[in-house]
Amino acid sequence: MTMTKEKDYERGYVASPSRYDGVMSYRRCGRSGVLLPALSLGFWHNFGSVTPEDQSRSIVRAAFDAGITHFDLANNYGPAPGAAEQRLGRFLKDDFAAHRDELFIATKAAYDMWEGPYGSWASRKHLMASLDQSLRRLGLEYVDVFYCHRYDPETPLEETLQALVDIVRSGKALYVGLSRWPKEAAEFGYSYLRAHDVPCLLYQGRLNLFDRAVETSGILDSATAAGVGFIGFSPLAQGLLTDRYLNGIPADSRMAHDPRYLKADVLTPETLARIRRWNAVAEQRGESLASMALSWILHHQGVTSVIIGASSPEQLHKNLACLNSPAFSEEEVGELKVEG
Ligand SMILES: NC(=O)c1ccc[n+]([C@@H]2O[C@H](COP(=O)([O-])OP(=O)(O)OC[C@H]3O[C@@H](n4cnc5c(N)ncnc54)[C@H](OP(=O)(O)O)[C@@H]3O)[C@@H](O)[C@H]2O)c1
Repeated sequence: MTMTKEKDYERGYVASPSRYDGVMSYRRCGRSGVLLPALSLGFWHNFGSVTPEDQSRSIVRAAFDAGITHFDLANNYGPAPGAAEQRLGRFLKDDFAAHRDELFIATKAAYDMWEGPYGSWASRKHLMASLDQSLRRLGLEYVDVFYCHRYDPETPLEETLQALVDIVRSGKALYVGLSRWPKEAAEFGYSYLRAHDVPCLLYQGRLNLFDRAVETSGILDSATAAGVGFIGFSPLAQGLLTDRYLNGIPADSRMAHDPRYLKADVLTPETLARIRRWNAVAEQRGESLASMALSWILHHQGVTSVIIGASSPEQLHKNLACLNSPAFSEEEVGELKVEG
């Protein structure tokens, strides 16, 4: 098995010539010149040292062949922190050297990355040093978008935002974004960045059938009003919004092998009952729960793209079905309410 995979790899990767002829659509990111694929690929899980490298490689190749041109990383994605960027750096060199300009690559800083007082949060020192490290791991001269990964209540917003402006001016990132910032701080950020001629490209926040806080808090609407694209993460609630956990916890699932992030105690009888109800709605619509859950997000006004995770090319292929998903009737919208 390993021999065959190694031989495949030695033969090299040839990108599918029909990668732009499939179901993928490209959506404008706020008031910018950038188009992003409706589905983007996230590197939080399945790209660290615990995942066989061939498995990660096959997911990235499948994504690119399906027209997924946007890869979402962060300094700390692993394990160990930095491993996902290193791994993508190898794939870029081996497989995608001829395709750099077809790719839109994101990374982030502000979560814990190295020891000492500068290894975390959103000071100018952390953001600049972290981006330099990320570029070395990725083997790139610039990333397409660099995010401040979280709001830092201790650092003046102007310091963080000016660092983002200067990063773009230095050419190390083409655009900048904000992730998980509270609404008011994000709005201050949009104004500051625009006033300094570096408009914020993207707000990145969690949005899925279970977690609608970016909708109810007005974060999604305020990004849209400011001309900032919105990109959603954990659209399948890390796998809960699929058929994965309908009959127990499979040994190869995230809940079984990475319970730090997806704890078994979230599977309460109420949550399981809700998943089963939503699964029944998806069946009535003639699609999988995963496909319906992704499509539900993509139907939101202001959403540019959804960052999916996948532990295999098969999952990724199945999730593409959401791009042909039917519109939601009023009745279905009602059935998908959290209170339902
Ligand atoms: N800005 C932030 O703070 C932040 C936070 C979190 C995530 N993110 C970004 O968002 C990306 C996506 O997050 P996520 O991985 O939580 O996304 P997700 O799409 O909600 O969950 C992905 C997981 O769901 C399972 N899955 C996917 N398709 C499936 C299918 N068709 N059938 C059954 N199971 C399926 C797989 O888990 P199994 O391993 O069980 O197969 C997969 O790894 C991350 O990689 C990262 O780039 C950003």
